[in-house]
This record gives sequence, C-alpha cells and structure tokens, in this order.
Amino acid sequence: MKKGIFMTGTDTGVGKTFLSAGLISALKEKGFSVCPMKPVETGCKILKGELVPEDALKLVKAAGVSEPLDLVNPYRFKHPLAPSVAAELEGAKTGKRKIIAAYNKLSAGYDIMIVEGAGGIMVPIYNKYLYLDLIRDLALPVVIISRPGLGTINHTLLTIEAARNRGIDITGVIINYTARHGKDISMKTNPRVIEKLTGTPVLGVVPYMKNFRIKIFKDLAAGILSRL
Ligand SMILES: Nc1ncnc2c1ncn2[C@@H]1O[C@H](COP(=O)(O)OP(=O)(O)O)[C@@H](O)[C@H]1O
Ligand SMILES: [Mg+2]
Repeated sequence: MKKGIFMTGTDTGVGKTFLSAGLISALKEKGFSVCPMKPVETGCKILKGELVPEDALKLVKAAGVSEPLDLVNPYRFKHPLAPSVAAELEGAKTGKRKIIAAYNKLSAGYDIMIVEGAGGIMVPIYNKYLYLDLIRDLALPVVIISRPGLGTINHTLLTIEAARNRGIDITGVIINYTARHGKDISMKTNPRVIEKLTGTPVLGVVPYMKNFRIKIFKDLAAGILSRL
C-alpha cells in the first residue's frame, strides 16, 4: 500500500481541507496513524506577529499529532496568491528540497500521510515548478475534489488529463457540496459522465454537512484504501 494521498482539487474553495480533515478522522477510527501536510499555505492571517496557517492547523487538529508546525507546513505566506507569487512579493524563496525532506521525515513515523495542495494541480510553487511536479516527486497518488454543478466536467477532465500527462496515479474524484444547494440537473448527471469519459472512478458525492458525519468519511476512506 502507498503511504500517502495528495488531496488536490479543480480549484480553491472546493473542500480540500474539509475533506482531508474528515478523511484523517475516519482513517484514525479505522486504526491507522495519520499525519497531515500542507506544504505551502498562502493567505495566512497574522496573529501576534506570527503567520497562522489555518488549513495546516485544522489538519493537525484532526490528526491529533504534535509534530513541529514547520514540518507539517514548511512554507507560509500572508498574501492570498499562488505560492510562487506570494513568495516573490514577500521577498522569500521556496524550494522542493525542504518540502520533500519534511515529507520523508514525517512519513517515516506514520501509516498514512494526507497532503493538501493549494488551489489546483497547475498552481506554481516556484518558478515553473507546479504542484504536479511536487506530486510526482513525492510519488503520491491524487484524489481530485470537484464542484458539483455546471462547469465541473470541464475542470475535472482538465485536471485528470494534466495529471495523466505527468504519469501521476489518480485514485479517484470526489464531488463535494460546499454549500446548501437547489436543484441542478447537471449535479445528477455529472458523476456518471465523468466516470464514462475518463475511466476514473467517482469515489463519492459528499453532501453539504451542517454537522460532521463520520460515516460519510469512513465510506470514502474505505473506497480510497481499496484503490491504493
Ligand atoms: N461537504 C461540506 N459540507 C459543509 N461545508 C463544507 C463542505 N465542504 C467544504 N465546506 C466548507 O466550504 C469552505 C471551503 O472548503 P475548504 O475545505 O476550505 O476548501 P479548500 O481547502 O479546497 O480551499 C469551508 O468553509 C468548508 O468548511
Ligand atoms: Mg484548504
């Protein structure tokens, strides 16, 4: 079994952190030791002079680990921009070596790593080094989180195609409702269309949850584990 999953999405705000945290809880309930990573976080608030990486902290809380924050989240920036752009604006540099070293160090102590990207897979980390390149360097399979409504077929297929072009394994797609929703015929038809056009399984359609529902995440975790 591979020791990690890279949680990516078709966009920002699709539910990567929400689903990562839920999966971490479900995997822990199944008896696995799990450690999260958010290699780069942008858009951090400043509290008492320190940048606060909210996604990384949510994932750490779900996992209940006490690893150094600089390993879980090696790079953090204030501006809500792509990592390479935020770093440049803030006069900083990022690099893959620090991220890969942190990943290797953390993963040695756990059954499974859950790694959250930022935005989608073609977001630049530095220069021309994209999340796609990091995923390939970490040799992780990806789970792609997609929106439910109109437009998602295009975004999901683009993401799948780009991942395949780099030889990245795709575990599957999760369609996630980040908000309460009305009726949209595309929401019903999308999962079938995505599976048919890509041959990639839709691992689940996650409803908007007012309250955390562990059963949904346990089912997702089972589907993911069976494909690793
Ligand atoms: N299935 C869901 N049910 C309820 N709220 C959700 C769900 N998925 C995401 N959210 C909420 O939607 C917002 C965006 O999700 P988030 O996980 O932060 O996206 P991303 O990490 O992809 O930027 C957050 O406020 C999150 O709590
Ligand atoms: Mg997030």
